[in-house]
Amino acid sequence: MSDTPKLRIDGREVTFRPGVDLLTACIEAGVMVPHFCWHGALGSVGACRLCAVTVTENGRDRIEMSCMTPATDGMEIKLRDPESEDFRARVIEWLMVNHPHDCAVCEAGGACHLQDMTVATGHHARRARFPKRTHRNQDLGPLLTHEMNRCIACYRCTRFYRGYAGGRDLDVFGAHDNVYFGRAEDGVLESPFAGNLAEVCPTGVFNDKGWSKGYARPWDMMHSPSVCNGCSVGCNLTI
Ligand code: FES
Repeated sequence: MSDTPKLRIDGREVTFRPGVDLLTACIEAGVMVPHFCWHGALGSVGACRLCAVTVTENGRDRIEMSCMTPATDGMEIKLRDPESEDFRARVIEWLMVNHPHDCAVCEAGGACHLQDMTVATGHHARRARFPKRTHRNQDLGPLLTHEMNRCIACYRCTRFYRGYAGGRDLDVFGAHDNVYFGRAEDGVLESPFAGNLAEVCPTGVFNDKGWSKGYARPWDMMHSPSVCNGCSVGCNLTI
C-alpha cells in the first residue's frame, strides 16, 4: 500500500483522492468516462449504465459501473478494451431505441451529451422493429420546453430539482421504459431555479423556451460586457 492511492487506467498509473468513486477518480485524472446519470454535484445513482469499465482483478476481467464502484489502491481498469467499448455501445443503442432521431431540429442539437456519445460509439442504425414509445409533453410555463420523448431516464432532473432547487412539483411517474418526469398536471414549475433544468438535462427534454427561440447554439453566442454574472438572458445591460 502506498501513501497516495494509485490505480491504472489502460495501463497508465494515476493517483486519486481517497474515498472517491472510480468515475470521479478517472475524470480527476483527465480520463473521460462516458456517463449520463452521474453528475459532479448530484453524485451517482447507477441508472444509465453508460459508465461501464472493465476491472481486472486476480487475472480476471469483469464489467463494473464506474460511478458505483469505489476506487481502491492498486486497482486496474480498462476503458479502451473491446468488452467495455461494446457494453457502452449497446447501452447507447438501447437508449436510442426510443429516443427520436430529431437532432437537426432539436434545441439541444450540437450541445447534447447523448448526441456526442451516440456519435462516439458509432451508432448509426436502429435495429429494433417496433414503434418508438411516445409521451405527451406538458406546458411548464414561460421558461422551459418539455419533450419527454427524448428522455433517457437519468434522473438528473428530479435529483437536481428536489435536492437543490427546492421544488417539490417535478416528480417521477411510471417505471422502466415508461418512466415519466413532469408535474402531476400542466403548470409553471414552482422553483425559481427551474430554468436550470435545461442545463442539467443531458439530452434536450428540458430546454430554454424564451432564449433565441430555444435554438441557441454555443458557437452562435457572443460574449458581451454586462453587470450581470452568469445570467443567460443576454440583455447586454451595462451601467
Ligand atoms: Fe454510472 Fe450512469 S453514470 S450508471
